[in-house]
Amino acid sequence: MATAKKRIAVMISGRGSNMKALHEAASAPDYPAKIMLAISNKPNAAGLAYAKSQNIPAIAIDGRDFANRTAHEQAIHKVLVEHNIELICLAGYMRILGEEFVGRWPGKILNIHPSLLPKYPGLNTHQRALDAGDKMHGCTVHIVTGELDAGPVVRQSEVPVLANDDVDTLTARVLEAEHKLYPEALALAARGD
Ligand code: GAR
Repeated sequence: MATAKKRIAVMISGRGSNMKALHEAASAPDYPAKIMLAISNKPNAAGLAYAKSQNIPAIAIDGRDFANRTAHEQAIHKVLVEHNIELICLAGYMRILGEEFVGRWPGKILNIHPSLLPKYPGLNTHQRALDAGDKMHGCTVHIVTGELDAGPVVRQSEVPVLANDDVDTLTARVLEAEHKLYPEALALAARGD
């Protein structure tokens, strides 16, 4: 008997190309998850328009409308619960989540990060890999815990750093890898329990 698909919310702050990759993968009949909701902390995020065009409920919850991060994340939590969300995918969500929110979703939040963690948590990962002279770089999907970019790794993908790379060429190569990696990692997580 077919098991029910996991109900996914994607949280974004911008372009949403990883959300698009997840949504496209999830259109396969045997994919174990379905994108049921897009939330952005930025009302003008391009990814929200894409979600709407795909008939995915797309909601802006702007941090500036709340007194503090806790109140903002309580509002996000409420919407997630209203939509019966089971797993959350952070996809370019550029605000650090607080402990209270993460604690309400233990093991249920995935994040994609543009480096081979534990190398280069935080920002400017591609420039840091170039500056370090790394021969390999890549991306990681991990489970979100209270510590920034430090939760258990679900899956990683490596890409080579080429001799004439600059930030733009390396970013593009990693992003292409992200679009393959995130759907694979989400499928693993969705089948996991
Ligand atoms: C992606 O490269 C993602 O790995 C990165 O932001 C980009 C979002 O692109 N995330 C982080 O840096 C998180 N710290 P997208 O909006 O096109 O998916």
